[in-house]
Amino acid sequence: MSDSPKLTRRPQWTALEDHRAAWHAHLRDLFAADPERAERYVVLVGDLRIDYSKHLVNDETLALLQELAAATDVFGLRDAMFRGDRINLTEDRAVLHTALRSAPDAVVEVDGENVVPGVHAVLDKMSDFADRVRSGAWTGHTGKRIRNVVNIGIGGSDLGPAMAYEALRPFTARELTFRFVSNVDGADLHEAVRDLDPAETLFIVASKTFTTIETITNATSARSWLLAGLGGEEKAVARHFVALSTNAEKVTGFGIDPDNMFEFWDWVGGRYSFDSAIGLSLMIAIGPERFRELLDGFRLVDEHFRTAPAEANAPLLLGLLGIWYGNFFGAQSHAVLPYSHYLSKFTAYLQQLDMESNGKSVDRDGHPVDWQTGPVVWGTPGTNGQHAYYQLIHQGTKLIPADLIGFARPVDELDDELKAQHDLLMANLFAQGQALAFGKTAEEVRAEGVAEEQVPHRTFRGNHPTTTILARELTPSVLGQLIALYEHKVFVQGAVWNIDSFDQWGVELGKVLAKRVEPALTEGAEVPGLDSSTAALVAAYRELKEV
Ligand code: F6P
Repeated sequence: MSDSPKLTRRPQWTALEDHRAAWHAHLRDLFAADPERAERYVVLVGDLRIDYSKHLVNDETLALLQELAAATDVFGLRDAMFRGDRINLTEDRAVLHTALRSAPDAVVEVDGENVVPGVHAVLDKMSDFADRVRSGAWTGHTGKRIRNVVNIGIGGSDLGPAMAYEALRPFTARELTFRFVSNVDGADLHEAVRDLDPAETLFIVASKTFTTIETITNATSARSWLLAGLGGEEKAVARHFVALSTNAEKVTGFGIDPDNMFEFWDWVGGRYSFDSAIGLSLMIAIGPERFRELLDGFRLVDEHFRTAPAEANAPLLLGLLGIWYGNFFGAQSHAVLPYSHYLSKFTAYLQQLDMESNGKSVDRDGHPVDWQTGPVVWGTPGTNGQHAYYQLIHQGTKLIPADLIGFARPVDELDDELKAQHDLLMANLFAQGQALAFGKTAEEVRAEGVAEEQVPHRTFRGNHPTTTILARELTPSVLGQLIALYEHKVFVQGAVWNIDSFDQWGVELGKVLAKRVEPALTEGAEVPGLDSSTAALVAAYRELKEV
């Protein structure tokens, strides 16, 4: 049990409350008062230029937020994480995704054992396998080369590779087809395999626990599809199925050769597992060398988070800014708006990272919190959003802090005409940041000759905070840097809120109830203790099913 004071009673917290109560500045005034603001409120990390000048903060706000971080010992918890302490309290586990991207000569100990050699041994095994699939040396049961790779997994065993495959498409082996199946809705697997030749298809069953019902159900159906297509010969499975898991026993029980299993470890959380063996599909897509560049990108930001001073520590700053809005301005959500088609799945990936980590309402000692914790994270690629929900961000009643992410260069393989569109894309990003921050005053609207009754409708109050993250281009390393930036931002927020960001008990109840209800749907079995609403829904479902 910790004896530290409750968060909201800390003097650093109440100082922020007072500061907020006195806060009336508009971003227009803040920029007018400080011509250097745009240069001062920027942090450079690796290839990322992170501009936080369009935030509702001044030097005093930042100092107060830093004092809160110091009082809640964010850096102490950070060091404990990197050291391998069991900071995932309720599961009594170390939290060492950072060890997955450590240099080969690093030493990271769990229970007295250096885990780094094991990490690199698995990376080498993955590299060898990926090379064999990419070169055609690994053939299917009938001797045909593998042309299709289907990753079956859910949550952290799906979102990372699926997102990164989209993000890094220009770096992928275009002659291979990659699909990602996660939903237990049979339509997902159906659509993924309906045009594939089983003789040329490799299934990667990705599951840390190898007990996740969606994944095991889909993997079982995929096995039937494969065997039906290959004449039912059981031994075909060994050439067409590999597993990524911590659970060798369950993998063998499923019928996958342990030689075809790529291992990871208990100390890697599911939503932090993308750069473990869970990344195998991506490694096949982009090749081992590019995959290692991705890991280098992660490591670069790990090192930054571990060593940069507080005032220039990007994950710390971004975490604290989120706390400023969520806890002192009542912001409920956070939008992530990439101006890159390739990052179309990035926000969905961040939803698990952030909301599964920080969607908690008790503190690390199990006491209810009386402060807001993780925000609702949402968003889609920016230009599409501009013609959908940006209206609400600009002129609605809610405060929605947003991240705008963009790149200076389009990908090389676009033709010249498509490359030329890039400036227009980025002009939109910059224009949105500007419009959100500075808005358009009633006077400016009037000066355009707009009729008085229209003026309120055409006025933009502005003062909407954004962070702009800019990099030269979206490479594997830059993607790694971006993900690590958000991982550590989420960590910082959990540390300040004093919650366990590494368990996910909130997922359990639904799983248990689904198992209980399923027999009622399939066999009409009586489910004892079913509430009247759910019982009526089950009855209606059964009736409709039979019509
Ligand atoms: O959603 C809960 C969760 O445990 C995630 O944390 C995890 O990424 C996902 O389920 C999948 O779990 P597994 O990899 O064990 O199949």
